[in-house]
Amino acid sequence: MSDATQKAEGGLLGWVDARFPLTKMWNEHIAEYYAPKNFNIWYYFGSLALFVLVNQLLTGIWLTMNYNPSADGAFASVEYIMRDVEWGWLIRYMHSTGASAFFVVVYLHMFRALLYGSYQKPRELIWVFGMIIYLMLMAEAFMGYLLPWGQMSYWGAQVIISLFGAIPGIGEQLALWIRGDFNISGVTLNRFFALHVVALPLALVGLVVFHILALHEVGSNNPDGVNIKEHKDKAGKPKDGIPFHPYYTVKDTFGLGVFLIFFSAVVFFAPEMGGMFLEPPNFEPANPLQTPEHIAPVWYFTAFYSILRAIPDKFGGVLAMGSAIFLLFLLPWIDRGRVRSVRYRGLGHKIALGLFAVAFVALSYLGLQAPSDLILGLTVTAWAQIWTVVYFGFFAFLFAYTAFGFERTKPVPERVTD
Ligand code: HEM
Repeated sequence: MSDATQKAEGGLLGWVDARFPLTKMWNEHIAEYYAPKNFNIWYYFGSLALFVLVNQLLTGIWLTMNYNPSADGAFASVEYIMRDVEWGWLIRYMHSTGASAFFVVVYLHMFRALLYGSYQKPRELIWVFGMIIYLMLMAEAFMGYLLPWGQMSYWGAQVIISLFGAIPGIGEQLALWIRGDFNISGVTLNRFFALHVVALPLALVGLVVFHILALHEVGSNNPDGVNIKEHKDKAGKPKDGIPFHPYYTVKDTFGLGVFLIFFSAVVFFAPEMGGMFLEPPNFEPANPLQTPEHIAPVWYFTAFYSILRAIPDKFGGVLAMGSAIFLLFLLPWIDRGRVRSVRYRGLGHKIALGLFAVAFVALSYLGLQAPSDLILGLTVTAWAQIWTVVYFGFFAFLFAYTAFGFERTKPVPERVTD
């Protein structure tokens, strides 16, 4: 569309458009962003992630109005929010359930990218921005969990920060630098508060903007993995594309409605989710002199926690955990396959991807159990070792399978099929 038609002529909008590219941006990113017409259920999770991000920002601002970021006052201020602040319980449960919902949505969003090869050329940067978002999200959730200053806040942070201490040479200094004290203290709480409410949310919002700009530069992938820009009509619009607005704005609103049914059910009927979203020891104030019997991070970290515990050596465990995340960053370069969608990929890839998903769920489950518990005669640690091998095996297999020409793919259609 020419520049002239991207501006409204008269009225308030015309006045604004003459000074700010409002209509131009609306057209470029919404009304005339052509998205493939075959999006399926997996394509809801991007817009849902945006919604949950906004939920976290808004409820976070309201929590901050009554929260007291000090070692002496934090725990009591959360209780005050829950009992005395009007609707405080709802705001808090929306925020704590929102954190878990964020990871549910983001994990499904990432898995969609694995299913349809959305990380492959030319979408590598969308994926890399996504992975940086994921890392930031982990830091954001970890720091947020210290803020209620309960037993699990304190001891969970103690365990995670001490992992940095395992790095040879600089480890102890690094852990000291993160804590700002020799033990976790009010100093640590203050800096985590500053990072959790200002620095990381800013970085997250900025990264999400980059993520979407990168997406709109190359265009969305789709369940068939075909490039819709290769078949255009006389007006230059992709034949298999439909304008994002109104088609996907309406569809995403429906998806949001369904999501809100589940989200409200958890917020109102199971906000602690049986100790998975809010752990029982966190209803006791932090006590540096008493270690809880069983320390486990919240469910969304437990896959990586399992990998950490699977390796007997502490530094080895930290290294394995770091590599488990780092390998995901490299996925666009590990997968040398030229077919994107799982629909047309080789059987080996289908099986490997299925096993990878099972490994991630199994590791997440195992991370919530005590290491010496027995499952079918094997300890939790032994099971974690098996699934850790499967997890890393996926990347090794994928590289060998695609780089050395073992993959037998099916013909990819010219146009989208649904
Ligand atoms: C705050 C978190 C995130 C938000 C708000 C977000 C938002 C979005 C949105 C709105 C889209 C377009 C709609 C869609 O394709 O579903 C998208 C696409 C995409 N996202 Fe994210 N995202 C987030 C995190 C991530 C993460 C952690 C990854 C992976 C590491 C990722 C990878 C991708 C990829 C590869 C696409 C392109 C998908 C395709 O075209 O098939 N995103 N994201």
